[in-house]
Amino acid sequence: MTTGAVLGIETSCDETAAAVVVNGTEIRSSVVSSQVDLHARYGGVVPELAGRAHVEILTQVVTDALAAADLDGAPPVDAVAATCGPGLIGSLLVGLSAAKALAMSWGVPFVGVNHLEGHLFAPLLEAPDLEWPLVVLLVSGGHTVLVEARAPGRYRLLGQTIDDAAGEAYDKVARYLGLGYPGGPAIDRAAGEGDPSAFTFPRALLDDGYDFSFSGLKTSVVRTVDRHPEATTEDVAASFQAAVVDVLVAKARRAAVEHGAKGLSLAGGVAANSLLRRRTAEVAQELGIPAYLPGRAMCTDNAAMVAAAGWWRLGHDGPSELSLPADPNLFLPLAG
Ligand code: KG4
Ligand code: ZN
Repeated sequence: MTTGAVLGIETSCDETAAAVVVNGTEIRSSVVSSQVDLHARYGGVVPELAGRAHVEILTQVVTDALAAADLDGAPPVDAVAATCGPGLIGSLLVGLSAAKALAMSWGVPFVGVNHLEGHLFAPLLEAPDLEWPLVVLLVSGGHTVLVEARAPGRYRLLGQTIDDAAGEAYDKVARYLGLGYPGGPAIDRAAGEGDPSAFTFPRALLDDGYDFSFSGLKTSVVRTVDRHPEATTEDVAASFQAAVVDVLVAKARRAAVEHGAKGLSLAGGVAANSLLRRRTAEVAQELGIPAYLPGRAMCTDNAAMVAAAGWWRLGHDGPSELSLPADPNLFLPLAG
């Protein structure tokens, strides 16, 4: 079964999301309930609270997604997909169990989706006819990976972070600067008012392979602020952001050239960053290839990307077993 309506469910971290996508590309509905306010006063996601909040809101989110999709069949969808990892175990289990129960009661297939592969489907949802291979920079709160995607399901890992993820660096530096949680959008906003050349922060491994390192950068920000108490938050944020984006874009550019990419794409929460989007578009234009920059709502966690990846996996591998476990440490499925 490769066509039809798929209900996607995403609860791997702090967004409770459900969406209906038809034939892997047509988004009929996409509902995201964010827990940002719940976790903000703790300065980060509290796993126990996240799991409980998913339990409380998921039924409503799924009901809203089904209603907004305006499907009249019975059962309402042809399959149910849910994120099975990576993520917080207590959170993953909520969406995964609900998806299995719905699939069972409707008598339709269930398919488990890798959250990272879900992010890779975001550009495809917006540009279904794009040309392969793509170089994709997948940057989120938990991961920073540079991938050559030769087709859906065919991913080669070029590099990844050896310490902090890019989003994690944003969140930690934002907390240190007193910008609150989530840090990425706050730094992005503050940086817009600051001077990116006010401080020169390290660009780790800039010309060295495709791996990334961001933990030294975070330490350097802390040391600089200690030494320059007069520094404005805006200048520090802008200088930090310039260092992160310089490295991300330089490596993505080099990978696109080396692998003859026919497109350069961003995915994951940090792909919502305004400087990263602008610089990626400039590099793609310079290389004469298209840039695929999913809309901000498609970059951050959502269930449309899960439904799209689930639809493709279903056609390619068939349904998952109902005994499929949640795996907090799942990595991207690699296959050249
Ligand atoms: O993909 P995502 O929603 O969740 C994970 O799977 O991790 O990514 C969340 C991450 C957070 O670290 C957040 O600070 C970052 O994406 N982020 C941003 C921006 N918007 C979200 N980072 C930089 N600039 C942004 N505008
Ligand atoms: Zn994510």
